[in-house]
Amino acid sequence: MHDTLDQQGWDELRAAATEVMQRAYAPYSHYKVGAAARADDGRVVIGCNVENAAYGVVLCAECGLVSHLHATGGGRLTHFVCVNGGGEIIMPCGRCRQLLFEHGGRDLLVWTVSGVRPMSEVLPDAFGPDDLTHMADPADAAAEGTD
Ligand code: THU
Repeated sequence: MHDTLDQQGWDELRAAATEVMQRAYAPYSHYKVGAAARADDGRVVIGCNVENAAYGVVLCAECGLVSHLHATGGGRLTHFVCVNGGGEIIMPCGRCRQLLFEHGGRDLLVWTVSGVRPMSEVLPDAFGPDDLTHMADPADAAAEGTD
């Protein structure tokens, strides 16, 4: 489990999310989102939503954030928050919970609408990288007639 940030640390992260939210490109929904996170080396990564005339092509704020993480050296996410156009805390959408799980795992701390909670509560029983490596050998399953 990661150390939780003190309130000042969380407030700084929320301020970073609120600042980048103002650069969102959301001409269709008019719903701007900003996201900010700490990586395990202490740096802050950010993202905002970027929409598209083909509505389904929308990039959530979390997509930009994860790209920022890797574009600036990689590592793991440790603390995350996202906000709407009013600077209010919002929950990451379902798809983005999966995205965050991939890059922060079950111990990622998320400032949610009900306080700071680990990703293991925000996306319980998540499917993740371990599921791919722990799969039984398909040949064995076939031989046993169990699939
Ligand atoms: N949105 C995000 O950027 N992240 C979320 O976790 C929730 C939804 C964006 C997508 C779209 O541009 C707008 O919010 C309305 O759904």
